[in-house]
Amino acid sequence: MEDEKRPGPRVTRRGVLGTGLAAAAGCAGLLGPGFVIARYLAPAAAGGAAALTEIPLDGLGMWQAQRVQVRGRPGFVVRTPDAIVGVDGACTHLGCIVHWQQSRRIFFCPCHGGRFAPDGRVLGGPVPGPLPALDVTVSRGKVVVGKA
Ligand code: FES
Repeated sequence: MEDEKRPGPRVTRRGVLGTGLAAAAGCAGLLGPGFVIARYLAPAAAGGAAALTEIPLDGLGMWQAQRVQVRGRPGFVVRTPDAIVGVDGACTHLGCIVHWQQSRRIFFCPCHGGRFAPDGRVLGGPVPGPLPALDVTVSRGKVVVGKA
C-alpha cells in the first residue's frame, strides 16, 4: 500500500549519500591534478613580495641565467657578452613560466613552444609580444633586479 503513495523510483538515504560521495570523489580526482599543474605553471601572486632582488655577480657566468622573484613574480637575469639583462618569466601568450635553455641561448615556453631571445624579444611561437624587461643594475659585485 505504501508504494501507491510514492510513485516513481524509490530514493533511499543510503543511495543519496552514496551518490554524493561518488560525486565528491570524482570532482577531487579531476580537480586535484589540474590545480597542481596550474600552480606549477602560473606565476605567483604579487602581494607583499620584495620589489628588488640581489644576486652575486660572480655567480652568473656567461650565457647563464638565474631565476629571481621580483614582487612575487618569476623573472630571470641573463649574462650575455654585451650586457646583463633581466626579463619577466611569465610567457606573454598565456602566462606559463618560461625556461632558460643555455645550449640554445633562448627562453622557451613549455606550454605552446614560444621562444624568446635573452633580452625578451620574440623569436617564434604563438606569443603576442616580448617578455617585459626588468631593471638591472650592477653595483659592488651584486646584480640588483627590480621591476621597470
Ligand atoms: Fe607560452 Fe603559450 S603560454 S607559448
